[in-house]
Amino acid sequence: MQSPKQYPRRHSSARLALFHICRTLATVMGGRAFYRWCCLGSKRLVVRDQIVCSPNLPEELEGFTVLHLSDLHAGPFLAEGDLSHLPGRLDGRVPDILAITGDFITDTHADALRVIPDLGLFKTRLGGWAVFGNHDYRHHGHVHIVQALQEQGIQTLQDEGQRVGDLPLWISGLSDLEERPNPDPARARKGMRPGDMELMLCHNPLGAKALAHPRCAAILSGHSHGGQIDLPWLRNLGPIHPGLSLLLGQTTLIVNRGLGVVGFPWRLGAPAEMVWIELRRGQALQGSAKATYQAGTTHPE
Ligand SMILES: [Fe+2]
Ligand SMILES: [Fe+2]
Repeated sequence: MQSPKQYPRRHSSARLALFHICRTLATVMGGRAFYRWCCLGSKRLVVRDQIVCSPNLPEELEGFTVLHLSDLHAGPFLAEGDLSHLPGRLDGRVPDILAITGDFITDTHADALRVIPDLGLFKTRLGGWAVFGNHDYRHHGHVHIVQALQEQGIQTLQDEGQRVGDLPLWISGLSDLEERPNPDPARARKGMRPGDMELMLCHNPLGAKALAHPRCAAILSGHSHGGQIDLPWLRNLGPIHPGLSLLLGQTTLIVNRGLGVVGFPWRLGAPAEMVWIELRRGQALQGSAKATYQAGTTHPE
């Protein structure tokens, strides 16, 4: 099997210094309040409905629903209470499960601990699962995030998997493809039975081609922020955005644009979002995808 591993991106010290100056200025000028108003308000935040079809879907999973969140980036522009209104955007809908695909923080795990209680406000029928993104391993703080998530009923998967209730559904989660040395999909799938369907959580979408297979209905990812500020040059400052959804054989890759930001408290052409996913039996359909995507491509800088 091809490895999903990706080279870690590293930035020059000049770029990091510029980034730091922008962020400090934006913080002093009220960046958090601005971001909450311009990107997280009821009229700005998007709830994206996404149907995922698989010809192999067991009958019991018809209509199964997932609320997918990603890239909170708790820090100077997103903190306690800033996500507390999000459950109200679901119009009373309760998903079967909650799935969160990493980047809880930008810099320090203490920021995540301020925001994670808001995640406990989401109701689900069968529980919540999460994986880590590249930012979450800073100073090994992810171990503290595991505990905080557990207190809200959310299980963290690090090259691990679990059965969802007593359904023929296996949820697997990979450690980050850039920042961990050996993400191990085989370990995450250990325990799957013949006839099970898989939902995989993997922060970085660029390893998806190596992870797709006919019994994997969907790979849920984030990381790209949809470009965050989707303008020429600026969109290329962050990770490659492969598109919102992309069909890889019979597996649908979903790329969540996330809730938070890095660097500057603004989004353009890439709204903060929650993705509401419904599984259906049927032929998988191509979603939106950009031609720039080549699964398995690595992008050292
Ligand atoms: Fe991110
Ligand atoms: Fe990321």
